[in-house]
Amino acid sequence: MLEIKTIGVIGAGQMGRGIAQVAAQAGLEVLLLDANAALADKAHERIGRALDRLVAKEKVSSSERGEILARIHPKSDFADLSPCDFVIEAAPEREDIKLDIFTKLSKCTRDEAILASNTSSISITKIGACTNRPERVIGMHFMNPVPVMKLVEVVRGLPTSDATYQATVDLAHRFHKTTVAARDIPGFIVNRVLIPLINEACFALYEGLGTVEDIDVGVKLGLNHPMGPLELSDLIGLDTCLAIANVLHQELGDDKYRPCPLLKQHVAAGWLGRKTGRGFYTYDAQGKKVQA
Ligand code: CAA
Repeated sequence: MLEIKTIGVIGAGQMGRGIAQVAAQAGLEVLLLDANAALADKAHERIGRALDRLVAKEKVSSSERGEILARIHPKSDFADLSPCDFVIEAAPEREDIKLDIFTKLSKCTRDEAILASNTSSISITKIGACTNRPERVIGMHFMNPVPVMKLVEVVRGLPTSDATYQATVDLAHRFHKTTVAARDIPGFIVNRVLIPLINEACFALYEGLGTVEDIDVGVKLGLNHPMGPLELSDLIGLDTCLAIANVLHQELGDDKYRPCPLLKQHVAAGWLGRKTGRGFYTYDAQGKKVQA
């Protein structure tokens, strides 16, 4: 059985940082790779700040903080991933980017290494087909913010082996996550339900059913959700929400999934949510919401 000691995380954005953090907290060595070396270094600093908050809350001691951070190694070259037993890709939600990454991973990692994608909607079977080991390719879909959210969806492609599935579930458990198994059908379980909710909230705003705040407070208090759908879309990133909506629409072929024009417009304007300081709300430099 494959012993997992070193993992690679591809992509130093909000999901990649969160995955690297929980993996290092679980005692694994983490190679955090981004094509942009400066971004990988910056991600290391930001994980340090996230750990500082855990130290302040006395959830992690300051010596543990140092050990966790020392297990995360920023990298920018695929060749650095050769020691990895398991790789989790968390690059932007674009099929061409993911296929390119998995083609490279096939070449630069050992044949026994499992290759997982954090994709929220793209076919795992298709991703696996561009590698030399489709039986060792799997979906490992984390939720945002990764350190807080308990769920990982595990998605088997058509050729994914039982051993790969079991190793992935075991790894998620080491991260203290609960897993659900989802079929490799666009959106899997969570986004098949969530993205139509967010898209419908965009249509509600587009049609003037209420203000941004009315819609969010309505859903939050009316349905007892922790966040309204528009503020949640700002957290996820409107570009990511649109990319998933497009996959649902194109792949399932049903117009009920057509993305709202207002969502498309926000993305065209570069109003991508918290990460750009403006989405349906605006945010200050600390990421705190200032207004709708
Ligand atoms: N990173 C790490 N920790 C965070 C965090 C972040 N970005 N944001 C909040 N937290 C922590 C806080 O530090 C706090 O921890 P303690 O309880 O230990 O003090 C805890 O989470 C609660 O935070 P707050 O009190 O500040 O705020 P809150 O109670 O409103 O919770 C929230 C914030 C956890 C984000 C909550 O609003 C929530 O659960 N929202 C829904 C998130 C959600 O639905 N995520 C899934 C998105 S879908 C997805 O990711 C899949 C996809 O493919 C699109």
